[in-house]
Amino acid sequence: MTEAFDVVDLIRTKRDGGALAPAEIDWVIDAYTRGIVADEQMSALAMAIFLRGMGRDEISRWTAAMIASGSRMDFSGLSRPTSDKHSTGGVGDKITLPLAPLVAVFDVAVPQLSGRGLGHTGGTLDKLEAIPGWRADLDNDAILRQLEDVGAVICAAGTGLAPADKKLYALRDTTGTVEAIPLIASSIMSKKIAEGTDSLVLDVKVGSGAFMKDLDAARELARTMVALGSDAGVRTTALLTDMSTPLGLTAGNALEVRESVEVLAGGGPSDVVELTVALAREMLDAAGRTDADPRAALADGRAMDVWRRMISAQGGDPDAALPTARETETLTAQNDGVVGRLDAYAVGVCAWRLGAGRARQGDAVQAGAGVELHVKPGDTVRAGQPLLTMHTDTPERFDRARQALDGGIEIGAGDGAATGDVVLEKIAG
Ligand code: URA
Repeated sequence: MTEAFDVVDLIRTKRDGGALAPAEIDWVIDAYTRGIVADEQMSALAMAIFLRGMGRDEISRWTAAMIASGSRMDFSGLSRPTSDKHSTGGVGDKITLPLAPLVAVFDVAVPQLSGRGLGHTGGTLDKLEAIPGWRADLDNDAILRQLEDVGAVICAAGTGLAPADKKLYALRDTTGTVEAIPLIASSIMSKKIAEGTDSLVLDVKVGSGAFMKDLDAARELARTMVALGSDAGVRTTALLTDMSTPLGLTAGNALEVRESVEVLAGGGPSDVVELTVALAREMLDAAGRTDADPRAALADGRAMDVWRRMISAQGGDPDAALPTARETETLTAQNDGVVGRLDAYAVGVCAWRLGAGRARQGDAVQAGAGVELHVKPGDTVRAGQPLLTMHTDTPERFDRARQALDGGIEIGAGDGAATGDVVLEKIAG
């Protein structure tokens, strides 16, 4: 087959700051998926996009081409509206676990097609796999059945959804081209639009533990994604939320499941509860359930009931003891003072090095590994007081994990003021 374009011309266009034509974008995504465009050529193009950016029309077309590379799901036969949430990824971000059953309480179907962790941010599927018996892989019929019967499903996204993105995301991960707004926005939104949800709430993280380190960049990413969703007919809103310090008190698979269950039991750390309720309100509003009270459904056990049914439906035992790591080591404060900074990225890398995350796709993760915080920014501490506990099955990892925290925890002469809000801003569609 004769190819319509020469990829080198497209790379040169982007390298020199030009815009790609719609037909060129359609072709390059398709040709890359077919294996005609080689990885080294696509990585040169991704780097040119990273450095030169893309216009709105180019991003829109790039997203559409990635959707067209695979199949789309169809939830239109369900008896209730669908709403989904996507987080751009952070440390200790276990919100999907309590959120999906919580929203389902109000007769909204929540299809959470999720991924595994790579690098310092955890993956929802890795967390749930800490529950004995739980299965991540469901076929489309099983997903639809569970949405009708239980109302919420958290499972692996099938290989058919936006296969161009799967290939491109893996390539970006190894070529320093992840943090480009056009590429992140099209990657996330191609999967969400192909999934076919009626409405979508984006949790765009800002801070050291996020892809976007500052508010302006996060705002631009959020606006780009909201516009892509709205143009595709998906009611889309975004919350910009703080990721300068970990969410809650745990980072690591089983540790985060335990904390999520505390939230579903009406307790749990206040920042996790605040964000879960804020995202639930957005999802419920978008689905037309404007008078629902998600905080009440956490307090009175309705969300917990859906959680138990959701876990059981996928083979998990909600009553089984969660795995724990074989070894722990606790770090203590060197001096009296106030915890000023407890850096999300440092804690994320620490948990990852303890075995909670993977360095390469396909690596196994340790269910019990991770970090348990005993303090949060703003807390007053005494010398010798525990700051955090590291958990792992492989104690030879403690040294490298401890090094990840160097400079990440500051104890000074602060005023002990509580930390700021988790939700920083809302971008509406
Ligand atoms: N998550 C995605 O799915 N894609 C990105 O590019 C970044 C985060």
